[in-house]
Amino acid sequence: MTPPGPPGSPDPYGVHPAWLPDEAFRPIGSRRTLLRGGGPLAGTVHEEVARACARYGGSVRRQAAGPDDGAATGGDDRAETGGPYDLMLALTAAGPLPAVAEAVLAGFRRASAADDGPAVEGRSIEDAGIGEEGYVVARRDGVTVVLADSAAGLLYGLFHVVRLGEEAFGAERPAERHRPAARLRMLDHWDNVAVHPVMGQVERGYAGGSIFWRDGALRDDLTRVAAYGRLLAACGVNAVAVNNVNVHAAETRLLTDRLGDVAAIADRLRPYGVRVHLSVNFAAPLALGGTATADPLDEDVRAWWAAVTTRVYEAIPDFGGYVVKADSEGQPGPYAYGRDHADGANLLAGALAPFGGVVHWRAFVYNHRQDWRDRSTDRARAAYDHFAPLDGRFRDNVILQVKHGPIDFQVREPVSPVIAAMPRTRVALELQVTQEYTGQQRHVCYLAPMWSEVLGFRPWGPAGPGVADIVAGDVAGGGLVGVSNAGDDPYWTGHPLAQANLYAFGRLAWAPSSDPAAILDEWIGLTFPPSAGRDQGRLREALHEIMDDSCGTYERYTAPLGVGFMVRPGRHYGPDVDGYEYTPWGTYHFADRDGVGVDRTRATGTGFTGQYPPPWSEVYESLTRCPDELLLFFHHVPYGHVLHDGSTVIQHIYDTHFAGVEEVERARLRWAELAGLMPASLHARVRELFAEQLRCAEEWRDQVNAYFLRKSGVPDAQGRRIP
Ligand code: GCU
Repeated sequence: MTPPGPPGSPDPYGVHPAWLPDEAFRPIGSRRTLLRGGGPLAGTVHEEVARACARYGGSVRRQAAGPDDGAATGGDDRAETGGPYDLMLALTAAGPLPAVAEAVLAGFRRASAADDGPAVEGRSIEDAGIGEEGYVVARRDGVTVVLADSAAGLLYGLFHVVRLGEEAFGAERPAERHRPAARLRMLDHWDNVAVHPVMGQVERGYAGGSIFWRDGALRDDLTRVAAYGRLLAACGVNAVAVNNVNVHAAETRLLTDRLGDVAAIADRLRPYGVRVHLSVNFAAPLALGGTATADPLDEDVRAWWAAVTTRVYEAIPDFGGYVVKADSEGQPGPYAYGRDHADGANLLAGALAPFGGVVHWRAFVYNHRQDWRDRSTDRARAAYDHFAPLDGRFRDNVILQVKHGPIDFQVREPVSPVIAAMPRTRVALELQVTQEYTGQQRHVCYLAPMWSEVLGFRPWGPAGPGVADIVAGDVAGGGLVGVSNAGDDPYWTGHPLAQANLYAFGRLAWAPSSDPAAILDEWIGLTFPPSAGRDQGRLREALHEIMDDSCGTYERYTAPLGVGFMVRPGRHYGPDVDGYEYTPWGTYHFADRDGVGVDRTRATGTGFTGQYPPPWSEVYESLTRCPDELLLFFHHVPYGHVLHDGSTVIQHIYDTHFAGVEEVERARLRWAELAGLMPASLHARVRELFAEQLRCAEEWRDQVNAYFLRKSGVPDAQGRRIP
């Protein structure tokens, strides 16, 4: 693998700066800034601006509470603050504001009280406040003003100005309020403390080792963790779970005698407004020898969790809470004691409640010891069957964390019916940023379009709320969770272009209705700033061509019409059409000589379609109305079945697999043209990865096409070579 940029490249951490290169701070760093606000997060804002000014010749003045000289006489910002300033970042409560900031605030309050309030991103206006983590940005009288009620809002506002670049200091702009749609915007790290014999340091990690852990211990140098926190704040993420949901022996101790390690990580992330969460072992009291059982209704167990949790908060006062994978893929859980998931989750929620913590309880529960001969078991049904009956039984600080699809992060699945089935439960949407099933960070696969489709799905039809409304709801929403794709790789994510997925996750968690192409555009602008005569326009255009529909391309050369899991068992990379078909993990395509697909209808199949409310329960049930891209997820059909576009199923399989490979080849050639528009090492790494992507895509095409040609005996209508 090619190493990152030349030594001495402008990066304080010795790794690729991702979407925060120094250059992105030039517009701020070359100007005069006033920062008004106290506390540690405002301190972070100050450091950011001061560092940029040291590089680009601007200046920053910080006043913790109000004007230094107290001589606030209206109108003249120079007299009040020692200005003039190009940028003012101020907490609304930090003393009398400079006149221009006061005018922006007054204007904002007036406008938001009126019907035609200011443009708002995030939640709808229900008051004239800026809101927790929110900010108002405006440009007036030649000054760019950022106002926030909390220092976290100020930090997010600063990064907003970074995103705007020079534009932030151009024309006047009316006040806009921005605040996150979802309160909890979390990344889960599937990082192991001790290297796992099969899963390694990071389970399903494709970006080197863990940034937190190494060979059984906390890393000595946590500089990288701070750099990570900074990147996360810049895209809007505010929580991180620091260890794998499969909690093994060493990781179980993070809760007790290794708590200091977690506290050290929390110290590094706190300056960026990122809270730490911990994945815990449901059987911890038993495993650590504290009690004779882990039964959630046992008094000793309850007392154990209460005591342990109190100690956690003594060490980490802003600790976020626990993440739990229980009764899933061999992890312990309440079923062993004849209890259910509500009993289990409420036990931990009870321990966390006095401190304001939450428990993320995962809904990824299914039978992984199936018998393929038993056609009544359907893995897709499992989460709903386990959890829907429990709606209303969870405590307020339980968040049910639901994977976006009913199976397991396949490139094409319907939206999980659990999301619409639990109106009295806080639900979080879990997305997989790490590309376990989408090319393992060797393939370009920009996932935001897929996530955006999920977030926009309306379970009750066009007039009802969408997934984003459910999970981001102010009171009842559980937020968004992504499984992180970052590691100690010099580019953070293995494939340099996979950085865009991490960025897009944060941006969508903040504003779920954002356009994925616009997010990508933002990411390109920050990551590849115009410099040294490089033609950024050409790069921008090419990256859109390569990335915008790369997830569609991946789907075309891998998974036809909603069939999933045709991957090599265990590793999940590369094709193996029958790899899982007869294993205990589930059966996914049922291909024979006559047809293919899983019958999940109520009429003749597993009945899974009945887990959706109308209209989708009807749409998915109907062979004619079911969307083509999900046809084989819901129906078993003959190879000659005609799709809505007039093609047959078998011809569609051939066509898309040929097309997918051609698209990869085009993207590869497009990338080759970009040498010279970025550091040579970055270009070379992606070029090497494209060679692998093309090899693998061809393998997918040939195996899938050959498999279905042999099963069906139907030749390709275009007579192309199928091995
Ligand atoms: C997938 C993945 C596992 C992971 C699991 C989970 O099945 O392959 O490695 O543990 O998801 O989400 O818990």
